[in-house]
Amino acid sequence: MTRKWWQDAIIYQIYLRSFKDSNNDGIGDFRGLISKLDYLSDLGVTAIWVSPHYESPMDDNGYDISNFFKVSEDYGTIEDVKDFIRIAHSKNMKVIFDLVLNHTSDEHEWFQAAKDPVHLDHHKYHDYYIWQKPKYDKNGERQMPTQWRSWFGGPVWEYNPPTDEYYLHIFSKKMPDLNWHNQDMKRDMKNVAKWWINLGVDGFRVDASNHLEKNWDFPEGHPGYENFSGLPEHHKYLEEFGIEVFGPHDVMAMGEAGGATKEEALAYCGFESNEFDMLIHFGHCWADYDGENHLTPGKWSKGKININHIKNSFNRWFRMLNGDGWNLIYWHNHDHPRIISHYGNDLVYHTESGKMLAYSLYMMPGTPIIYQGEEIGMTNVDYKELNDFRDVEVYTEYENFLSFGATHEIAMQALRDRSRDNARSPFQWDDSLYAGFSDINPWMNINGNSTFINLKKQQADINSIFSTYKQLIRLRKEEKLNDGILHFIDIENENTFTYINETVNAKFLVLANFKSKKIKVNLDINIAGYQNIMYNYIKRELSNELKLLPYEALIYKYKK
Ligand code: GLC
Ligand code: CA
Repeated sequence: MTRKWWQDAIIYQIYLRSFKDSNNDGIGDFRGLISKLDYLSDLGVTAIWVSPHYESPMDDNGYDISNFFKVSEDYGTIEDVKDFIRIAHSKNMKVIFDLVLNHTSDEHEWFQAAKDPVHLDHHKYHDYYIWQKPKYDKNGERQMPTQWRSWFGGPVWEYNPPTDEYYLHIFSKKMPDLNWHNQDMKRDMKNVAKWWINLGVDGFRVDASNHLEKNWDFPEGHPGYENFSGLPEHHKYLEEFGIEVFGPHDVMAMGEAGGATKEEALAYCGFESNEFDMLIHFGHCWADYDGENHLTPGKWSKGKININHIKNSFNRWFRMLNGDGWNLIYWHNHDHPRIISHYGNDLVYHTESGKMLAYSLYMMPGTPIIYQGEEIGMTNVDYKELNDFRDVEVYTEYENFLSFGATHEIAMQALRDRSRDNARSPFQWDDSLYAGFSDINPWMNINGNSTFINLKKQQADINSIFSTYKQLIRLRKEEKLNDGILHFIDIENENTFTYINETVNAKFLVLANFKSKKIKVNLDINIAGYQNIMYNYIKRELSNELKLLPYEALIYKYKK
């Protein structure tokens, strides 16, 4: 395969609403983003993925799109988008937009027609969505077609009186799912993507891409995820889309999907695949949940970190794709807690654990995605009131927790630990009242720690987390780390996180401690010739037996 730009890329994810507000309405926007392009370029970023910026009632912060061809007024105008693309390109940065294929907003004109039997276009659009007739129980009471549960916690069905049907929504009820059996809908969606490609977009992140097919027999199931996630036919839709849209225009596509076998991984993003170029997978996420917690269950329960789980996922994906496809590496996105609060220690070891997390990920092969604010060690939110939260998911789940017996305080702690809002609070540019994000109180509160965790402070400090990110990015490029071969050492060890990234010219050995206590590392390798090039406490010579301090991490280089 000829070398593609995304194999050498350093991607940075922008959550537009919270990056930089240019007109002081409290909401991040394109002009704000443009004003920070020099910052991103200086950091070493070469591609920018922007979360959905399309017209939307913002039930799910823009993943609920009411017009695919319009820019949300919150974010600016189409001229702003064109300027953004042009200026990013002039600074040698590629532009990646989010492409939402699984659903629209219920306010999209397709759905407006679909739900209303007297609408002129009703017949054309009704079949763009997924409808089922009600069931009735013995007493003649109307029932949902199935008990399937949405990803946001409630039922997947919403009743639509005018047609006496339920429509399916696997996310919020304002996000009806599209019917991928409908040829006209598919054609319309392909035209959406082509329209943005014509504007100069270099790639897409394809949202919720493994959910496109549903089990049309609608069997009973609770929560029933297997009926709307990972069904084999979704590959067919993605492949068709890739062949007609991504391939001919040479745009990069990265999908999103949970667990996959080797065969499936190659179907998604093998070099021969037409579906995507790379895949965002979640194997290393949530490696610390507590299966025994029934008050705030599933991803909401914080437990002990399982380091093996994290190592095995990176290792498995590297092996599955090695030579046959290309890996993405990232810690988290806008759907997860902040990594430093999740796998690090944001209170006692903020700088140490922030750097340790950077070393342990960004020395690996693959194309990295950095999430905004990660580079300064932004933490989970410190919100005290339920209504400080913004995510639609939070409100359904909060009610669920109370119904499972959680107290208000337990439920609030689960939200502070695990909710998606943790990653979405505004970027902390400086220590001013609204952290340099805006001149007014933003759409979502600034984290109280912005007075001491902010970019301005870290830019002035060569020992900051930010400086570490800059150094690592430079090193990645100079040493072609994206292309290396990954070997974990003593992978089954429950305490250590040790690996080598072997490139053409060198071997890079990374040792990291994910714990707030000391750990012992026995290195059963020939240590001769390894030089300590980066460290988060003090410089140390390599030896076969090392004790690592809490969150200590070291990088050694062996020049071939
Ligand atoms: C993806 C997005 C998430 C969104 C969902 C529905 O998982 O990352 O933020 O809520 O899809 O579009
Ligand atoms: Ca604004």
